[in-house]
Amino acid sequence: MINIAIMGFGVVGSGVAETIRLNNEAFAKRMEGVTLNVKYILDLREFPDHPLGDRVVHEITPILEDRDVTIVVETMGGTVPAYDFSKKAILAGKSVVTSNKEVVAKHGAELQRLARENGVSYLFEASVGGGIPIIRPMWQCLASNQVESVTGILNGTCNYILTKMERDKEDFSTALKQAQELGYAEKNPAADVEGHDTCRKISILASLAYGKTVSNEDVLCEGITEIMYEDLLYARNNGYSVKLLGRAKKDAHDGKVYVLTAPHLVPETNALAGVNDVYNGISVVGNVVGDVLFCGRGAGSMPTASAVMADVLDVVRDCKKFIGWDEEKADFLGDVNKNVTASYIRTKASKQAVISAFGNVAVTEMAGYCMFMTEEMSDMDLAVKIKSLGEETVRIRIMK
Ligand code: HSE
Repeated sequence: MINIAIMGFGVVGSGVAETIRLNNEAFAKRMEGVTLNVKYILDLREFPDHPLGDRVVHEITPILEDRDVTIVVETMGGTVPAYDFSKKAILAGKSVVTSNKEVVAKHGAELQRLARENGVSYLFEASVGGGIPIIRPMWQCLASNQVESVTGILNGTCNYILTKMERDKEDFSTALKQAQELGYAEKNPAADVEGHDTCRKISILASLAYGKTVSNEDVLCEGITEIMYEDLLYARNNGYSVKLLGRAKKDAHDGKVYVLTAPHLVPETNALAGVNDVYNGISVVGNVVGDVLFCGRGAGSMPTASAVMADVLDVVRDCKKFIGWDEEKADFLGDVNKNVTASYIRTKASKQAVISAFGNVAVTEMAGYCMFMTEEMSDMDLAVKIKSLGEETVRIRIMK
């Protein structure tokens, strides 16, 4: 029997316990009779009505001191105290498995190194894409490739909101409330809708793909808070779907990697345009394999628990697994503002003002706004033109 501790018994942590309850016998068949036992649950709260309520502790010390606990599942969220607790667990000789993208994005390389030095693992499959296998496939199955690009719908909450707004004509806040009720959103949903969660996830994937720490603080981050139903309608009428994307692309000419998080108009012909609701979709292009698409439920208790448990079982099978990247800060990032992109613009400025700034573009007038698509231009050039409109103006990139 392998004893584990779960730190943080919220949406994901309770899903992990439920997965063990459901599938422990099946695990035993795959692991030469070994079963899993949740020996501790670390949380500030009590869970008197839960069958594992008697395992609750409020301090990490009993877990650290118990030599029978070999795997710690960290599903706390946030960096404090999750980072410190993970570090302590690793230094105490325990493997740590996490769904915590904030910790992985900020401290992943250090924790990976400490795990390696201490002969244990720090695994984080659940930190990106919820239930979708993406970390291990990129590390392992695509290992023979140089990654040319990673493009993903990486936040289930935002994709759910955009889908609901367009399909069911729900307003932003109603759709967000539903996403919270379904256990998709972060404790502070600003992290979802302002793009920070996607930004952390694309930083993790870029670090994994290119081998050095890509800090989310160095990545341009835009969210979906300004998007209106009319934007989604305009996009649909013109053959696009609006998606919040995390993108990392290596430029073949300058060798730089361009990473950003921003909403995009995705052409309906692109498979990502058909990824809806809480689903995430991640396209990885490798120089050997070509284009590979990963798709599945990107958030929620059981999908995320599925990914956490994959790591737990991996630790049980092979104690010294390493997946990760160098602690050194990435020196290969390019300036995304210099990228040349076409954009969709919605503005309160008049049609005359639009034509005077952008030339003879096709303008659609809807709900008191002018809407149009620009030619390809750099962000710097676009910013000058947008400024000249001098009114409330929203810009969304168009994916090639
Ligand atoms: N809040 C996150 C999302 C949870 O909506 O994708 C999964 O990381």
